[in-house]
Amino acid sequence: MLSAQDRAIVKSTVPLLESGGEALITHFYRMMLSEYPEVRPLFNQAHQASGDQPRALANGVLMYARHIDQLDQLGDLVAKIINKHVALQILPEHYPIVGACLLRAISEVLGSEIATPEVMSAWGAAYGQLADILIGAEAAIYAEKAQAPGGWRGARAFTVVKRVEESAEITSFYFAPVDNGAILAAAPGQYIGMKLVLDGEEVRRNYSLSALSDAGQYRISVKREAGGRVSNYLHDQLQVGATIDLFPPSGEFTLAASDKPLVLISGGVGITPTLPMLEAALATERPVHFIHCARNGGVHAFRDWVDALAAKHPQLKRFYCYAEDDGVSPAADTVGLLSQEQLAAWLPEQRDLDAYFLGPKGFMAVIKRHLKALGVPEKQSRYEFFGPAAALE
Ligand SMILES: Cc1cc2nc3c(=O)[nH]c(=O)nc-3n(C[C@H](O)[C@H](O)[C@H](O)COP(=O)(O)OP(=O)(O)OC[C@H]3O[C@@H](n4cnc5c(N)ncnc54)[C@H](O)[C@@H]3O)c2cc1C
Ligand code: HEM
Repeated sequence: MLSAQDRAIVKSTVPLLESGGEALITHFYRMMLSEYPEVRPLFNQAHQASGDQPRALANGVLMYARHIDQLDQLGDLVAKIINKHVALQILPEHYPIVGACLLRAISEVLGSEIATPEVMSAWGAAYGQLADILIGAEAAIYAEKAQAPGGWRGARAFTVVKRVEESAEITSFYFAPVDNGAILAAAPGQYIGMKLVLDGEEVRRNYSLSALSDAGQYRISVKREAGGRVSNYLHDQLQVGATIDLFPPSGEFTLAASDKPLVLISGGVGITPTLPMLEAALATERPVHFIHCARNGGVHAFRDWVDALAAKHPQLKRFYCYAEDDGVSPAADTVGLLSQEQLAAWLPEQRDLDAYFLGPKGFMAVIKRHLKALGVPEKQSRYEFFGPAAALE
């Protein structure tokens, strides 16, 4: 338990963190990644380069410092961090490395006049408290996933049993465990962690499960990213029969039980977690509105599958919006960027609905704004990022 004095010191550094938090964290990352090569594979270099990961961690530390007297107010943030950590297999032995680098970065960036021994000691105690909370929560989830039917801990070898080209740039991979055992049931919307060795270097990535896991297999659907290391490797080299290490499914962007109308909105490859959500929702009575936006028909994945479901389930209405008309593929319901008026026409009349959306950051910012303007309660408007969380305002 932190002393009242430590808490007061930590809180007094909040304004400092607000103005200089990002520089501090950037400095911290540079130091950690160069001095501790053992943690390098855990981090996605592209997220460092874009600044998204340093920004997400800076935000996490800032929120923590701000709420140090009432940690229960951190709400979703802690769950998000824990799920991301579990999916990438962050372990207790990693925490002292982050702690040592963070404290060194604080003292180096602030300078000895501000970073007095009292300030450093208070931050040391505060980091220790936060690390204990995360380590404890993560340990409980690791144990739960290991003990659940079909569950496991750490990496488990899976074989690629099928590959399907879903569009010009998205390919699905089906995985079954090499040991032929059962697999952990994933909640619709969850993602898996993947560990690979490319050119002798270990890398990890997360991929949303794009189908329910009840057939004893996991499916992911991957977009080829220009210049992307893992997506290009998967597209070009991971063939049927190859093996790959997976961590157990994780994630809190999951379909909550409800009988309100469900609206699933996706942009591009953001469609993946909405597919098992759609499958699960159609096993209930609730109305489902499935809205998908793609650049054009050529890159629109899963159209036939969703159309077939819509033909079979009158409770499902589906709407497609293409940014451009390529003149070749089946037409969309509208062309251009999804406007508020168009979205209004595609939403159920009852605005007391549950919305889940995912896509590029700019797309999500627009959808969030539109849903709010159209009267969907903010608490019922849920989203996730295919990378570190960022502000959508
Ligand atoms: C929870 C979650 C779920 C996800 N689900 C899916 C999914 O269902 N389907 C899917 O396709 N993806 C998904 N992703 C994204 C996925 O994890 C990868 O980020 C994505 O496949 C790109 O990885 P990559 O290795 O191919 O690209 P990376 O090598 O990470 O590169 C990404 C981009 O950054 C650029 N870049 C890389 N390094 C640098 C650098 N040092 N400086 C500047 N630019 C750089 C690359 O050129 C490329 O354009 C998900 C991510 C998360 C967090
Ligand atoms: C108190 C300590 C820590 C805090 C407050 C913290 C906070 C965060 C936050 C806010 C995110 C982004 C979550 C998201 O938006 O999805 C994150 C992701 C992550 N964290 Fe931590 N973390 C801590 C410790 C650690 C440790 C010890 C490691 C391992 C060395 C680690 C590795 C990672 C990785 C690899 C990611 C994902 C990065 C990516 O997507 O590129 N974290 N953490």
